Parts: sequence; structure tokens; C-alpha cells
Amino acid sequence: MSEYLLLRHRQIPDIGNLTVYRQNEGFQAFHKAVTSMKPEEVTEVVKASGLRGRGGAGFPTGLKWSFIDKNKWPHYVVANADESEPGTFKDREIMENNPFQFLEGVMLCAYAIQANVAYIYLRGEFWQIAAHLDRKIAELHSAGLLGDNLFGTGYSLRLYTHLGAGAYICGEETAMLESLEGKLGQPRLRPPFPPSFGLYGMPTVVNNVETLTNVPLIIEKGAAWYRGYGTEKSAGVKIFSLSGCVNKPGNYELPLGTTFRELIYEHGGGIPGGRQIKAIMPAGASSSLIVANEQALDTPMDYESVPAVGAQLGSASVIIIDESVDIPWLINKTIHFFKHESCGKCTPCREGSYWMMHLTERIDKGKATWKDVELLKDVATQIRGKCLCALGEFSIEAVLSGIDRFRQDFEARVGAREMIETQP
Ligand SMILES: Cc1cc2nc3c(=O)[nH]c(=O)nc-3n(C[C@H](O)[C@H](O)[C@H](O)COP(=O)(O)O)c2cc1C
Repeated sequence: MSEYLLLRHRQIPDIGNLTVYRQNEGFQAFHKAVTSMKPEEVTEVVKASGLRGRGGAGFPTGLKWSFIDKNKWPHYVVANADESEPGTFKDREIMENNPFQFLEGVMLCAYAIQANVAYIYLRGEFWQIAAHLDRKIAELHSAGLLGDNLFGTGYSLRLYTHLGAGAYICGEETAMLESLEGKLGQPRLRPPFPPSFGLYGMPTVVNNVETLTNVPLIIEKGAAWYRGYGTEKSAGVKIFSLSGCVNKPGNYELPLGTTFRELIYEHGGGIPGGRQIKAIMPAGASSSLIVANEQALDTPMDYESVPAVGAQLGSASVIIIDESVDIPWLINKTIHFFKHESCGKCTPCREGSYWMMHLTERIDKGKATWKDVELLKDVATQIRGKCLCALGEFSIEAVLSGIDRFRQDFEARVGAREMIETQP
């Protein structure tokens, strides 16, 4: 990127310092919004910008804000800083290095929906980041940017951080709200959705850290400016967390629509040891496996094009798999994660992930027959569409796509066993 919009600390040293942030247009958008824009106007600009949620689902952000129920009060904002998807490490970099832009995004969202309280829900392991944000929030109070009667307008706002206990499910928005209320972190039945029934049953907007970090510049520079980045349906920039078998793993902020090839070979420096790329998981452990052929490498990374090659963009945690990696082994590792993280509320997810873990273990250890692979497929298919949240769906993506698209790896694993069994 010639100019960073989100990872601005890479170009502006000390942007995490309030004075430096303010010298670089910081809090101008918030001041402008609170003193001269109606709340609905802020939502309209965000809508027009084409910004979509960066937490995984890609839901249009301004549209979500416009769904807030205006007949029930108070309203809340909850920033999702749970960042638990294996392979995702972008929100952490933002909060550690460019915290005020993120906090200003939270504040603009709060103003747009007229919330007077906003929470930042962080995974338990981010306790140092929570303490860091608490210090930044205190600075904002001292500077008169948070508190009562802001800029003499009568609008009041307070921000609070809240630590989870390190459960992946608490990144799911309704489980997060339960956890924030002090209950067991398990998903709620929907509808109703958070904009009408959220925190304490009140209208709530839940947005990802990266999503909110886009907002100050959108309000400051306008929707048309933001639309100058990315594609028509996937506007703006995205942070791609690149990991796995790649020479230069890390966070890369690029326009949506950048190809996998550019990310992996130009920015990521290619595959170690000059080995062949085999598969791509574009959305972390929750992702289907894409066969990394020429067509896939030339696919633009946006919300429309990635599904066309059989996966989702998700939170864009792009994991690279090279030819040295055995797919049944990889799938066993991902299922181990989902089995551990299933909250247990829905039977298909709880029991299914348990059985998938045992079956993939048996396959990985070379102790399975093809019947076990068929059974694995059957168990995975039975989870589909039967759970309250997407964790169950996520758990079967790598399994089903792996068996379908890398069948030869499974055949090789069960082949030896079947030869033994069929001997007279
Ligand atoms: C199992 C599960 C885990 C999730 N984890 C996260 C997470 O760590 N961070 C996040 O922002 N969204 C996560 N999500 C998505 C949230 O439920 C929600 O869609 C998102 O926070 C909305 O924000 P956005 O519209 O800005 O993307 C998760 C969803 C599921 C089903």
C-alpha cells in the first residue's frame, strides 16, 4: 500500500500517542459528527461507503446500524475484539499500535446509534491490550473527548473494556453478549437479532475492531473517497493475515480484490524452499480448502470472488498449505480445535465434532478404512444447518472440502490399511 488507512502506525511513528494522533486529523471526524451531523447522517455516510463487516460475514455496516430499534432505549455498542479465529491476528496489531483510530470508530458508531455506553469485548489472553486501551480511554476523558456533555452538545459517552476467558465461541456475537452479561458464553436463538434484542435485551450494534477502525476516515474524507479502494461490491481495504507455508507471514493491508497470487508471491515472498503451493484456507480454520491451481491464484480476494472458487473470505486469515503438508493431518488439527471450542449447547456440533475428531485421528494414524472416510463425511453432513450458530458449520468446511478436493491424500492414508484387511 502506498498509503495505509488502518495500519497507519507503519507510516506515522507514535500514532498511538494522543497528541500525534490529533496532529494527523485524529478526532476531527468525531468532533464533526457530534457538533454538525445528525446521527442518521453518520449512518448514511457509512452506508454509502460500502463498508462491510470485517469480522467474517461481510454484512453491510451502515445497514446494520440503520436496523437499530429506535423504540427501545438505551442502545449499546459492543466492539468485537475477541479475535480467536486461528490465523487471524489483525485486530491485535490495530489495538496495540493505532488504538485511537479504533476508539474513534467505536465512538462514531455510538454517536450514530445514540448509545451513551460502549463496551470493548477482548479475548482473555488480550489482558495487556485491555490495560493499554484503559489507559487510552482515560486520556480521552482527560482531553474532554469522552464523558458528559461532549463539546457542549449534551451528548455523553463512556467506553469500557471487558475481558472474556479465552473461549472461541465468545467471538460469536450473541455468545459474546451473554458473556458480557456475566452468563455462560453460549449463542442465542435468532431472531431477534442484536439491533433489536442485544445487550441486556436492548438494541445493540456489534462490530469487529477492523470494521470500526475504517469509520473515522470514512466520515472525515467521505464515502466516495473510500469507494476509490476495492471493488464495486467489496469496497475499501482489508487486512489479510497471511500465515502457514509462506516466506513472509504477517498482516498485509491491501485493497479488496487483490489476488491471492499477489498476496502470496509479491507480498508474502512465496513458498519456503521453492516448494509447490497445494491449498489455501482463506478464512482460517473455519475455511474450506481451495485447490491452489492457476485459476485460484488469480482469484480476487473479495466477498464475491472467493465463494466462486468454493470458500469464503471470512476475516481474511489466509493460511497457505504447501505440498509437504498432508491434508488428513491438517484436518485432524482443525477438528481438534473445533471439538475443544464447541460450547456444547447444540447436540450436532457437540457430538459431531467429538466423532469427527476421533475419525480424523484414526485416518491420520493410518488405522482407518475408506468406510471411516465415508462415515466422517456422513457425520459432517449431519451437522450442516442444524446448529444455533456458525461454529458447527465452520467445523465441517475443511472436512468436506478436504475429502472432495484432496481425495488422493485420503486414499493414500487408508490404502495401506485396506490392503492388509483384504489379504486372505
Ligand atoms: C464461532 C464464531 C466465532 C466468531 N469470532 C469472531 C471474532 O473473533 N471476531 C469478530 O469480529 N467476529 C467473530 N465472529 C463474527 C461475529 O459473530 C459477528 O458477525 C461480527 O462480530 C460482526 O461484526 P462485523 O459486522 O463488523 O463483521 C464469530 C462468529 C462465529 C460464529
